[in-house]
Amino acid sequence: MQHPLPRINPTETLAWKQLTQHASAFREGASQTLSRLFEADPQRAERWSLEAEGWYLDYSKNLLDAQGMALLRRLAEECQIQEGVEAMFTGAKINETEERAVLHTVLRDPSSSFRLADGTVPGELVKEVLARMEGFVSGVLDGTLRGCTGKAFTDVVNIGIGGSDLGPLMACEALSAYRNALGVHFVSNVDGAHLLRTLQKLDPETTLFLIASKTFTTQETMANALSARSWFWEQMEALGHGSGSLRGSSLGVHRGVDLHFVALSTNAVAVKAFGVLPERMFPFWDWVGGRYSLWSAIGLSVALAVGFENFKALLAGAHAMDRHFRYTSWEQNLPVTLALVGLWNRNFLGIHSLAILPYDHCLSRFPAYLQQVDMESNGKSVDRQGLPLDYESGPVLWGEPGTNGQHAFYQLIHQGTSKVACDFILPAQSQYPVVPHHRYLTANAFAQSQALMQGRDREQVMAAFAAVGRSEEKTQNLLPFLVFEGNRPSNFLMCQALTPFALGSLIAAYEHKILVQGLVWNIYSFDQWGVELGKDLTNRLLPLIESLQDNPVQGLDSSTVALLRRWHAWQKD
Ligand code: F6P
Repeated sequence: MQHPLPRINPTETLAWKQLTQHASAFREGASQTLSRLFEADPQRAERWSLEAEGWYLDYSKNLLDAQGMALLRRLAEECQIQEGVEAMFTGAKINETEERAVLHTVLRDPSSSFRLADGTVPGELVKEVLARMEGFVSGVLDGTLRGCTGKAFTDVVNIGIGGSDLGPLMACEALSAYRNALGVHFVSNVDGAHLLRTLQKLDPETTLFLIASKTFTTQETMANALSARSWFWEQMEALGHGSGSLRGSSLGVHRGVDLHFVALSTNAVAVKAFGVLPERMFPFWDWVGGRYSLWSAIGLSVALAVGFENFKALLAGAHAMDRHFRYTSWEQNLPVTLALVGLWNRNFLGIHSLAILPYDHCLSRFPAYLQQVDMESNGKSVDRQGLPLDYESGPVLWGEPGTNGQHAFYQLIHQGTSKVACDFILPAQSQYPVVPHHRYLTANAFAQSQALMQGRDREQVMAAFAAVGRSEEKTQNLLPFLVFEGNRPSNFLMCQALTPFALGSLIAAYEHKILVQGLVWNIYSFDQWGVELGKDLTNRLLPLIESLQDNPVQGLDSSTVALLRRWHAWQKD
């Protein structure tokens, strides 16, 4: 059988072996440090930075030298990355375990004309749906599309989870300065608190629900969608709009659902069963992965929030990064460079975690968004032959907006026993340019990346304390706590301003970084079997929870039994 991706164990390449040897000089307590790298090359920042589609990447503060970088590029060559990238862009079924192509890049390039084996031209499908989305967005925003009592929509609620929530939510926050008057809300958690607290503020007559689910079967989303529909009916009844009085194309049957509910999905049958009309369903396709679906109909909430022109600019930014990624030499390639530096940190320096640190409050959901894209893609321990990996794959990602993080977890990043790699992200101009806030924010971002690199030595501590008149004896006692080595790696990403274009290119850069890493690790980055077991067990346990029996359980582990019993006991009062 012909496999669309090469199957190469990266540890068996010559480059991997050479990198392993090369890394020994950079490991803990070894001869090479970041400060020495900077001393040795005064042009380091210039040489170790690049620009792409509005983003400046400074990767100079990584514990890596030119020879290491060259070896990393050789590793990518030996792992046939270029072939893998082309396989993705040209529609090969690189998501082999689900037998799917991976074509989110076509969503931002509707003019692409290539044909899949089944005869469909993805670009044409995309163009058609985008045109329908554009019409819908302008109808909602100009008030020609209205609710069933004739009122214009004031609020939109996107109900979805995972990729059907995190991307649009993050983008709506990131572009908050571009938003219009429409209130856009997101409900994801199956915890009723999330839905009820959102609905409490809303008027059913002016609320539009977007049910966003690729499968239209996800438990959390369907529970929220059904409850939202019940809420809508109850509220309308309470307002005196019984089923008979609801305006709409299918009066009485859909009872307003036809005008107040929209579906973003690949599952037309389930959408119809829910009561959404075909003209209110915006489809996408199995070649769009959930965590890569922001660019598809799943982005409708973003298009409504910021207008269709800005949504198109978001797509254009991502497309520009796609072209940069596909056609630029690896030396100047932003996603490839991020990927190779990440591989170095993960596989050769043994750094397990990556902190995403946006110095822009509008990017506050960016770390959470990237968590899904990266960890659901590359959190794998079996290679493309089905064999257990004998090397590390995806790191743990986490993060918070910059200065908030500084007062929470940066202590560990600076002085903890584990090293954490950091990505700083800073737009040079703020969407909310309040003087002097953005200057403070910027100074903090630069200072933190500098401190991580340089640390603080004995002499600096002594001098600082002497300057404020502190005795030498007292300073000596504190020295072990005040000295820190620095030598902690980070990248710095900066754009001029977080425009829709810049946001699109940033997200696409990370998507491609993740692709390159997955290709080197010889794993399948586009499936997510690991989340299935939890779903199965939830479905098996649900009847035991619903039955409210005290002693229901044969064949279950003692911990789950005890939890069930305690839970039931605490339902009684
Ligand atoms: O958590 C697993 C997952 O399948 C994600 O990959 C996906 O984004 C999410 O669930 C939501 O799925 P759906 O869009 O089908 O509701």
